[in-house]
Amino acid sequence: MRKINFYIFLIICLQTQINLAAQVRSVVDFNNDWNFFLGDDEAAKEPGYNDSKWRKLSLPHDWSIESDFKKEFPATNQGGALPGGTGWYRKTFVLPVSAKNKDVTIEFDGVYRNSEVWINGHYLGKRPNGYIFFEYDLTPYIKQAPATNLIAVKVDNSQQPNSRWYTGSGIYRNVKLVLKSKIAFDRYGTYITSGVYSVDKETPVKYDKTKTSFGWVNIEVRLQTKIAMPGKLRVTHTIYDAAGKELVSFATPPRINIDTMYGTTVYTDGRMPIFKPVLWSIDRPYLYKVVSTVFQNDVPVDELITNIGIRLIRFDSEKGFFLNEEPLKIQGVCMHHDLGALGAAFNIAAARRQLKILKEMGCNAIRTAHNPPAPEFLDLCDQIGFLVMDEAFDMWQKRKNKFDYHLDFPEWHTRDIRDMVMRDRNHPSVFIWSIGNEIREQFDSTGIAITKELVAAVKKLDNTRPVISALTENFPEKNFIYQSGALDVLGFNYKLNDYKDLPARFPGQKFIATETVSALATRAVYGLPSDSIRVWPPDSKQPFTNGNADMTVSAYDNTYAYWGATHERSLLAVNTYDFIAGCFVWCGFDFLGEPVPYPWPARSSYYGIIDLAGFPKDVYYMYQSQWTKKTVLHIFPHWNWSPGQTVDVWAYYSNADEVELYLDGKSLGKRTKSDNEYHVMWRVSFRPGTLKAVSRKNGKTVLTREIKTAGLPVKIQLTADRSTIKSDGKDLSFITVRVLDKNGNLVPDSDNFIEFSVAGSGKIVGTDNGYQADTVSLKSNKRKCWKGMSLVIIQSSGKKGNITLKAISPGLQPAVLALKTSD
Ligand code: GAL
Repeated sequence: MRKINFYIFLIICLQTQINLAAQVRSVVDFNNDWNFFLGDDEAAKEPGYNDSKWRKLSLPHDWSIESDFKKEFPATNQGGALPGGTGWYRKTFVLPVSAKNKDVTIEFDGVYRNSEVWINGHYLGKRPNGYIFFEYDLTPYIKQAPATNLIAVKVDNSQQPNSRWYTGSGIYRNVKLVLKSKIAFDRYGTYITSGVYSVDKETPVKYDKTKTSFGWVNIEVRLQTKIAMPGKLRVTHTIYDAAGKELVSFATPPRINIDTMYGTTVYTDGRMPIFKPVLWSIDRPYLYKVVSTVFQNDVPVDELITNIGIRLIRFDSEKGFFLNEEPLKIQGVCMHHDLGALGAAFNIAAARRQLKILKEMGCNAIRTAHNPPAPEFLDLCDQIGFLVMDEAFDMWQKRKNKFDYHLDFPEWHTRDIRDMVMRDRNHPSVFIWSIGNEIREQFDSTGIAITKELVAAVKKLDNTRPVISALTENFPEKNFIYQSGALDVLGFNYKLNDYKDLPARFPGQKFIATETVSALATRAVYGLPSDSIRVWPPDSKQPFTNGNADMTVSAYDNTYAYWGATHERSLLAVNTYDFIAGCFVWCGFDFLGEPVPYPWPARSSYYGIIDLAGFPKDVYYMYQSQWTKKTVLHIFPHWNWSPGQTVDVWAYYSNADEVELYLDGKSLGKRTKSDNEYHVMWRVSFRPGTLKAVSRKNGKTVLTREIKTAGLPVKIQLTADRSTIKSDGKDLSFITVRVLDKNGNLVPDSDNFIEFSVAGSGKIVGTDNGYQADTVSLKSNKRKCWKGMSLVIIQSSGKKGNITLKAISPGLQPAVLALKTSD
């Protein structure tokens, strides 16, 4: 028996052993092998506590999303109708032998919320803010191999409501263990700025892409030394281009003499030229890599890699925004942090999919509403080419919800804003710092001092980007955040009728529409007539009771909340004024929570251009036709109506002069957009058949589109966004499920209940259909279709091999889909 126990111990040690080969820091993925308990037990912080019955899981993890939706949860449907509560996580691990003499820190990218952490029973601290990076030094309490260590994390999201949207609960972003030398860079210890100028007849001038250019990279470094008499220190930086070619290497001497003191912070800085740099842009997000190394007596002891982009940003009070001295209208969307059926649990494949769908639409900027995002989200924006408005807060001292961050603001805001800027300031994608969204202090004089303080805190750490706040009050004498005089650019939410008055009200100021639209839609629902506008809710005075019985909203872009406007009208307004640098549409993807205009059982938003499952609503194609150079022709609605019913057919199109619509070959007329509309429309008396649209330029056909009246549902079609995924236990394939008739047409009103099962090296981690009032847990493997469609998300399970997804539903031919996992 003893022998068996010994072997079990040995296996556990081996499994949790951490490989550490390099001399310099090693960053260990610390997401696996955690034990979790949903509930509270203070004794769980003690190493000896028996957690053998707890659930085993991997991070990132969000416990809220695992529940069914329920009306009773105190977060209410505004918070997604999912539970909060308290949870504990514990992880036992053994350090590698090579960790001896190393410092050990643990990094959390985000824990919602009020986390407290213990190592081997020692209290490390707490962090109330659920969206912020934090780390703890474990060194004084860690035990070397073969002894085991125990990390315990308490997460307290029990005080509800604490948010206006779904937050998720738990350690929902990545966790890393970092082993580093006693002389090492701080976690965000490099600050790299850059610039570029041109040369005209040997004189440097403002950047002009037609002239020879020179760039420079300025690197500031912070490192700590935790040994007395560290000897001779030297810091070098090597810059590589995107192809991995070394461009330049240089050394910077420490700015202060650190020969003497223990625990000193050492600063170095240096500037290097780069001949003819390739500038980072939306279309060509070119990244250089900077490898910073610290040497102690010529031996490398730490290394930090920073990806940078060299780009110029500038706002102009008359002409809007310039990237690399070329005008660029900001075509942005606001995004909350949840990933639909995955909840808040961060997954890079899911975030990449969202960004890909937005990029295809022509979106070029994201506002991370209303909090800092996962760090990998910014890496993706750097790589794919998005600008980011990085936002700190949704409230300051004055609350929006009883238990929200206003409780923590007094004690924590200085630290939180510092940590946001320190973490994110090297990302070329980040182009605006936002100190807050619709902050209530804008309405009284307390706003002045807090704005000044927050802006100063940002500027101290980064003076290369404008600081703004998303404001609602657009009369200067009533807006105290504006009156602070500290904002670089004024961001206004909604009120597009006032755009024309802004330059007169705020002479000389620069403007961006930090939030627009708040139109509402359920995918594939069409409220006729399409040109009757619904304002849902019409005002704030009484409860809204006039909606559809099934809690849907028309997708004709004819419905919006009273503070908003249709997508089309909002975009027309933004495009009318050059001084408006652009906009951030509320919002890109539907998110959990805030299901305006409906009460329970509605539990997710109607605002998205794209639904919660990631399926575009029709208005997606309006943006695509306006925001890209692509040739677009999108017609809607479906063609399954009652005979004789009057149906409005819309088209979004581009790169064409006109669109002609035909029903079974008979022309219903040509339409051309006027200067102040982004769609065309035909009013048609329905009969079953084939609707065909033809777009033409100079009389030549550009594109054709057809929609046929569908018959009865017969079969299921499964289509994967990626049929080979990584076997790493993290990667995802998103499978679109369609119900088709015998001729392969999507059946637009089918709501078949489909059961999914998986065999092989994968598992189902979520299903969805985008319908805002579906109360079945998003983790269920059974899902009703919404308007003929649903989604299954499959995750690789850590092994190389095949995955088979099967979909069955009574009365339908089943479907099978084969996927692969590879290294
Ligand atoms: C805005 C707010 C957003 C969201 C939106 C819904 O005022 O900033 O967070 O609530 O309204 O329309």
